[in-house]
Amino acid sequence: MDIRDHIRSIPDFPKPGINFYDISTLLAEPDAWQVTMGRMAKVVGPYAPDVLVGVESRGFLVAAPLALKLGCGFVMARKSGKLPGATERYEYQLEYGSDVVEIQKDMIAPGQRVVVLDDLMATGGTAAAVCELAHRMGGEVVAVACIIELTFLNGRDRLDVPFHTVVQYAS
Ligand code: PRP
Ligand code: MG
Repeated sequence: MDIRDHIRSIPDFPKPGINFYDISTLLAEPDAWQVTMGRMAKVVGPYAPDVLVGVESRGFLVAAPLALKLGCGFVMARKSGKLPGATERYEYQLEYGSDVVEIQKDMIAPGQRVVVLDDLMATGGTAAAVCELAHRMGGEVVAVACIIELTFLNGRDRLDVPFHTVVQYAS
């Protein structure tokens, strides 16, 4: 199955000139989603993770079912101010301004093997920030995996761990 057949591309969203790769159509097609999760499990499983960290919000859709499938924990990395209780925060720079990712303090134990999951990598800034946060919390970040990679943005160069995707777009 070509997973691409189930991913919709919407031109000029959210800004003119940007092509938005939309996984809504993939999520709505159970057979295609099952195949996608199976392929993700094949690349992520061998890392024997203790926890999968999913990046709000579309990363949750990938990490939560994959964690169930692999029998490991699922941890949320959220945008600023969404998580109750004590959190670890990491602020990172964007092209204009900055952004924050947060994880609850007790969600990653020192030495745990962590794989960071998201739906898509563009510039790699989000994934790199979540890796840095998990690392600062004592986690051993062993890999990052996304369904989609926009290869023309070279986001993978910002990571210092192995990176896997099951669908690539060159433009
Ligand atoms: C998108 C996508 C990734 C991130 C990739 O999320 O889901 O999380 O951008 O971009 P980067 O590699 O350039 O950092 P978005 O911020 O649109 O939010 P959402 O997941 O809540 O829709
Ligand atoms: Mg996202």
